[in-house]
Formats: sequence, C-alpha cells, structure tokens
Amino acid sequence: MLFDSEIDRQVRAGTALPETAPWRALAAHQREVAGLHLRELFDRDPERAQRFSLELDGLLFDYSKHRVTDGTLRLLIELARASGVPEAFAAMRRGDGINWTENRAVLHIALRAGGDRPITVDGTDVMPGIRAVLERMRSFSEAVRRGEWKGFTGRPIRAVVNLGIGGSDLGPAMVCEALGAYADGPQVRFVSNVDASDFVSATCDLDPAETLFIVASKTFTTQETMTNAHTARRWLVEALGDERAVARHFVALSTNRGAVAAFGIDASATFEFWDWVGGRYSSWSAIGLSIALAVGFERFAELLAGAREADRHAFEAPLAANIPVLMGMLGVWYRNFFGAASRAVLPYDRYLRRFPAYLQQLDMESNGKAVDRDGRALGYASGPVVWGEPGTNGQHAFFQLLHQGTELVPCDFIGVVNPAHELGDHHRKLLANFIAQTEALMRGRRADEVAAELRAAGIDEDALRALVPHRAFAGNRPSSTILLDRLTPHSLGMLMALYEHAVFVQGVVWRINSFDQWGVELGKVLAGAILGEQERLLAGDAVDLSRHDSSTQALIERCVARRASG
Ligand code: F6P
Repeated sequence: MLFDSEIDRQVRAGTALPETAPWRALAAHQREVAGLHLRELFDRDPERAQRFSLELDGLLFDYSKHRVTDGTLRLLIELARASGVPEAFAAMRRGDGINWTENRAVLHIALRAGGDRPITVDGTDVMPGIRAVLERMRSFSEAVRRGEWKGFTGRPIRAVVNLGIGGSDLGPAMVCEALGAYADGPQVRFVSNVDASDFVSATCDLDPAETLFIVASKTFTTQETMTNAHTARRWLVEALGDERAVARHFVALSTNRGAVAAFGIDASATFEFWDWVGGRYSSWSAIGLSIALAVGFERFAELLAGAREADRHAFEAPLAANIPVLMGMLGVWYRNFFGAASRAVLPYDRYLRRFPAYLQQLDMESNGKAVDRDGRALGYASGPVVWGEPGTNGQHAFFQLLHQGTELVPCDFIGVVNPAHELGDHHRKLLANFIAQTEALMRGRRADEVAAELRAAGIDEDALRALVPHRAFAGNRPSSTILLDRLTPHSLGMLMALYEHAVFVQGVVWRINSFDQWGVELGKVLAGAILGEQERLLAGDAVDLSRHDSSTQALIERCVARRASG
C-alpha cells in the first residue's frame, strides 16, 4: 500500500485493527453513549443542529440527528486521522497506484479538475488528453443537438440509446433522470440488461433513421453490452439496408480502442477514457456523453464544476468540518460499533429516484470486500447493504421497519428546497413529510405519550394497556439530512462527488481496496461456461454436466428441456 498510516504500522506489527487504540477508544465510548437518547441530546443542547451541520455552496449536511456527542465525533476524527485519510486523499491526488490489485491510479478527480494544473500518471500529464476528449464531446453533442450531425438517410438524430451496464449505465442514467427538468436535446434512453425485453422496450417506438446508439463500455468486452450492441447494429442495418449506416448511428465510449475498431466503429466516433477511471466513477468521463446530449455540454460542464467544488472541500476542509469525512465516519460508527448491516438512502425528489441504484454500485462494489490491504481476512465488518426508494413512496412501504423494526438502519434523507415544478401545495407537503420522518425517527413516541393520547381519546384502561406497546416507538433512529437549495447540474455534481469521497474514506479506514471488483468475475466466467453448455445441449450434443452440483445441473437441464419442448 502506498500510504503508511499509524494504524497500518500497528496492524503490520500484528495488532488486529479492532485492537488498535482508536478503535478500542470508540468501542469503550460506544458502551457509554449507546444508552443516550437523541431527544436528550437535543434537549441538552439547543445549538445542536447548528453545531452539527455543515454547508457547501447551497448544500446543507445536517448530521445532528446522529447518535453522537462531541466526544464521539472527536474519536471518529481521530480514527480517520490515524487511518491515514489525509494521506490517502493526497495519494489519490498525486495519481499514486492506490488501486494496487490492478496496479492503477484512481483519478476520476482529474476528469473534473479543469484548469491547467498538470496531473500525472507514471510521469505523464493526463490533463491534455482529458481536455481533448471533453472538447470532442462538446463539438459532437452540439452537432447532434443542433441537428447538424445527420443520420445515414440525412435525417437529424431525435433519440439516443446508451448501451452499457454497471458504471457505464447507472451514473449517466441517474444523472439524465435527475436533470430531467433540463432535458432539451434528443430523448435519451438506456439499455443495460441482456434481457431482450430491455432492448425491445427501449427501441420499439424509435425510428432507426433518427436513432443514435452509444456503446458505452470501459472494457468493450462486457457480455450484456456487446450483445445489445450487436442486436442494435442488426436492428439498424436491417431497417436502413446498408452496413455503412453504422458510421452515422454508432459511437463508442471505451478504453479499448482495438475492440471498438473490431466492432466496426471508427476511431473518429470513439471517445476514449483511461484505465485509471473506475467504471462506477466514470460519469465524469466520455461515459457522460449521454448527459451532454440530453442537457447540453454546458450543463455537463456544470456537473463537473459541482464535483470539483466537492473535491476542493474534501481535500482542503479540516477533517472535523469535512462533509465526506463525516459521512464516511458516521457510516463506520454504525457499521462497526452498532452492527448496522444496511443503510437506507431516501431521496425526496422524483428526479433522484435512480440515486439509490447508482449509490448501490458506488458503495457496494467499492466496499463490499472481505480482505484487507495485506490480503488478510477482515476481522470486522466492511461495506453495508445500501438500498432505498424515493419518499414519500417508501413511507407507505418499508418505513414501518425503519421506525419499529428490530434492525437499526441509519438513513440518508436527501431533499430539495425549490422544486423543478411548482404545482399547488405538492412541494410543501413533500418537504413536510421529508422533515417529519427525520423527526419521527429521532424522537419516537414514548409509552407515557401514547397512553396520554389514548386516554384523551377515551380508550378504557385495559385496552390502553394492550395497545401501548404496539403504538409506542423507541425512536433514537439516526439519519443525515442533505438538503439542496435546488437540484441543478452543479448541486448534483457536488452530491455525487461527496458520496464518492465518503466511500473512499470508509475504504481507507477498513483498509480495503475500494477500486477493484474481483467479486463480480466468477459469475461472469460461470455464465460463459453455462451458455456454452446450453447451446451444445440445444444443438442436440451430449454434454457432461457432472462437474456441476445437482441443483445447477438440474436447472441447466430444465431450461433446455422446457425450451425445446415449449
Ligand atoms: O461487472 C462489474 C463491472 O465491471 C463494473 O465495475 C462496470 O462498471 C461494469 O461491469 C461495466 O463494465 P464495462 O464498462 O467495461 O462494460
């Protein structure tokens, strides 16, 4: 590993991470404060909300409804410092190979850095290349949006279909959705799944003569994306009757120029990025072309500028006043000291409805790891399950468990003060619910309060005794509130980058590599093998399936048998 923190030195000398001084101090502290109720903490300190809130350019981060005291925060910051968070940020900025299992730098921050400051990887300044691709994205997106880039038959492009999956889909799809109120270009759709229904439903009402496909794949080998790309090419060529149409209707976003050329997309229609951009961190790269097409390059540039603002804050703000550091360390607090296995992300804005799915990949693919930097099994928990749905819908589905279930689920509430659409009192109601839920989770409702209410309603004492335990809420359920003045390209860029850095902070503390994803490989390899076996069985060949367990074998056989007979 490239940065050597105080904790690294202790762990390498044989001390298990939970046995290091900052962890032990937090564990002891947790026993002292676990019994404190948030109501009490608010009652004791009328300034709590002000003291436990930070602001960044129209984004409020209120962390006052967390089960923390000043002492907790001090210890969490000490843990961050001892874990080498500042050194890790510095290593990232220097372009060190902090993705050490793939021997790569991690420089999505360079994609949005702007300016002329050189950022080097292996001694080469990457900024000129970034600027060149951005310039090509600008001119291409403007040409398409102005109708100057014509399809093969001379018609303008009215629909764009992004073919990509994982980071080549979730980020840009989320952003295009989130900035839906700004969409003023061709309609942009996303096809990710190898399930044919995805392609069919996205293209069934499109005119091939007016459709542009973006094949978005860092590796240009991903099964789902390449299958969809080949299907798209057939769909187009069959409709337009000429292979040459591909040149006007396909562009590629990839690091793998050779594979792009082999697919038949010209270098002039290829927007490159680099191996130091992780898939789930790639919306800022050429992978964001769909965003520039949907809302215009200027707004894509504003998204980058918002992320740059968050980078500046993450790298320069003191740890104790650093939003992503606090976000990350609060996550560590609940995960490692309260055993919280999941975290809910609850956007109270329909435009952010894909944000939880985007964040799932960002967080779970980054921090879903079970070995540390030195290859040893972790003796502690790493990344939680991240999940969520927009409010208020979630309130009528799973909030019951958040309020009264046996699981502690820390929540991130994300809201927007000024809505995209003013319609009667909709937004006031939305925000009232947004705020009320954080208060309800925090306060709960004590048995004596429930009893008083029931008495006032004239319920008799026997019924009251039976009802009180069901109607009381323990409260003390923690949440962060992130409140944007407006959902703009700039504020969205900040929000995304803050989460990216929070995920990184946690990875550093857990001593894991947040930038590889070896865990997704096995399924891909096995799927390839099973695909081959299925095809041979369907062709009538005898195939020995005995290397599989009996369940896998029976499932393969059943799929083939039912299909043949169906
Ligand atoms: O399967 C996981 C993954 O490798 C992600 O990390 C990545 O974002 C996605 O697949 C898509 O990869 P590619 O852009 O190379 O097609």
